[in-house]
Amino acid sequence: MKRVKRILMTVLVLCAAAGAVFAGGSSQSTAGKGLIGVVMPTRSEERWIKDGNAVKEGLEKLGYTVDLQYSDDDIATQTRQIDDMITKGVKILVIASIDGSALSNQLANAAAAKIPVISYDRLLMQSPNVDYYVSFDNYKVGGQMGDILITGLKLDQAVAAKPVIVELFAGSPDDNNSVGFYQGAMDKLKPYFDRGVLKVPSGQIDRAVIGTLRWDAAEAQKRMENLLSAYYSGDVVLNGILSPYDPISLSCLEACKAVGYGSTPGKPLPLVGGQDCIVASVKSILAGEQYATVLKDTRSLGAATVTLVDTLMQGKTPTGLDTKSYHNGAKIVPSLLLDSVIVTKDNVQKDVIDTGYHTAAELGL
Ligand code: BGC
Repeated sequence: MKRVKRILMTVLVLCAAAGAVFAGGSSQSTAGKGLIGVVMPTRSEERWIKDGNAVKEGLEKLGYTVDLQYSDDDIATQTRQIDDMITKGVKILVIASIDGSALSNQLANAAAAKIPVISYDRLLMQSPNVDYYVSFDNYKVGGQMGDILITGLKLDQAVAAKPVIVELFAGSPDDNNSVGFYQGAMDKLKPYFDRGVLKVPSGQIDRAVIGTLRWDAAEAQKRMENLLSAYYSGDVVLNGILSPYDPISLSCLEACKAVGYGSTPGKPLPLVGGQDCIVASVKSILAGEQYATVLKDTRSLGAATVTLVDTLMQGKTPTGLDTKSYHNGAKIVPSLLLDSVIVTKDNVQKDVIDTGYHTAAELGL
């Protein structure tokens, strides 16, 4: 909870400077009470449920009414939900998109109705009508994914005569976060590729080739199965996998187990990281299968968003935002970027259980 409080305090300080910004916000006379629209991509992933709850509960505590919708990973559903929210007269829209470039019409309508738009976790692309971005530092998150492989596979000790063998997975091509994750990881891994101590037998390295549409773990599992049967016959043993998302990590491990990894001498399970710190992955980490994950505390992101909404509703101008890092193709979107934490077996207790992110009971302990 200390981390959550620290971030909340930072946001409060950042948002302290006053000044009217949006007619939509400042027209609210009752010191900030009103209807806020919150759209999350899907209910079928653990993190978005936590995100939705954190934002809704935080706003309701401050006296706002919240229309929270989940879009079932379906773009048409998401556009309809946003259209409805605009018609209902929400005061602010908080949007975690499915396809970051698919909402330009809705964003233009929101701007015409003077409704500020906060891009939540995923950057809304190719539109000037995005007012703020609240997320984690996605490039740093990617760097942590790279660090997991560097540390876990002891790449600093590897030699070109016996290279470490990996395959690479990336996130959904229509999600701008995938770019940061991939770039951050590849920048860390590049020196090891250059030295010849890290090899990808399939040769599939470009983000366009290794992407996983809609972060679909079943699709990733199929790709892993195909890679194993096409490139890993004979003596070639897979040592590690770059994974941007816990369910992808788990399904890649399943594909590996199905061909004897983890149960055949000389074929230990490959080392894999992940992202989101989902319960199933933490259990897998504790069981010694998945090696690590990146925890992005959804409570902190929710709290930062709630503070930003409240600031705007009071007609104040948030200050201290990053105004350099995130260009969405139409403009630089002022951003609030939070920190993430690598979780391995060693710090599950301290960073996951003690902070209350997951309880010991949820983890079956
Ligand atoms: C989020 C990740 C999440 C992924 C799949 C990304 O945009 O940043 O935390 O794992 O979407 O939902």
